[in-house]
Amino acid sequence: MKILFIGDVVGSPGRDMVQDYLPKLKEKYRPTVTIINGENAASGKGITEKIYKQFLEWGAQVVTMGNHTWDKKEIFEFIDDAKYMIRPANFPENNPGKGIVYLNVNGTEIAVINMQGRTFLPVIDDPFQKMDLLIEEAKQRTNIIFVDFHGEATSEKQAMGWYVDGRVSAIVGTHTHTQTADERILPGGTAYISDVGMTGPYDGILGVNREAVMKRFLTSMPVRFEITKEGRTQLNGFVVSIDKNSGKATKVERIMINEDHPFFG
Ligand SMILES: [Fe+2]
Repeated sequence: MKILFIGDVVGSPGRDMVQDYLPKLKEKYRPTVTIINGENAASGKGITEKIYKQFLEWGAQVVTMGNHTWDKKEIFEFIDDAKYMIRPANFPENNPGKGIVYLNVNGTEIAVINMQGRTFLPVIDDPFQKMDLLIEEAKQRTNIIFVDFHGEATSEKQAMGWYVDGRVSAIVGTHTHTQTADERILPGGTAYISDVGMTGPYDGILGVNREAVMKRFLTSMPVRFEITKEGRTQLNGFVVSIDKNSGKATKVERIMINEDHPFFG
């Protein structure tokens, strides 16, 4: 079985890319499950109920989040009813929403976990201890476990990758918006990549209007960050093949679609 993951979808340019390319990617890879990181999907910060439902309509089964989870205030009204949305599991206990979801696809159960790093990000609960608890819980039901680890520091992501090696099927990094070329299967059978990259504007800075970001660096003055609406776009993703019985990864592939790396169906 295969799991397709699409990296941080940024604003309307990112959503348009998902709508355009998800059918093509599904035809090419035939994934059992598609997961989208949607924490930047509403103008770069947070997500709305409408966008969450669109992602499911367009063919995703799970939407993962991150440090921007609470940025759109309407999230508090729908997250507890959004069955297929998960936010970092190591947010403080009793936060709305949940950090793990189980899917049943033709009798095969798949667990999807969202976790967030603590390095250069707001202080939350220990992701390593929380991961132990959730893996133990998930293992009661299935060997197929997929993790979106939302983190800033590559060292923390690598540490988590090695920490869960042999215990989960795949762990992919999100949040930095820049795809890393270190995809691999660790010796215990866990697929790993430090960051999947982003889906949205191709000529911005992490998706944001580059003039504004440069102005911030040049002047150290407050600047309003807006998503680049015009121009070229990109999609970054990751596909992992998993042995259904053992839950071990057997093949990994990075997906990078932009004008310099055109899509071949
Ligand atoms: Fe993030």
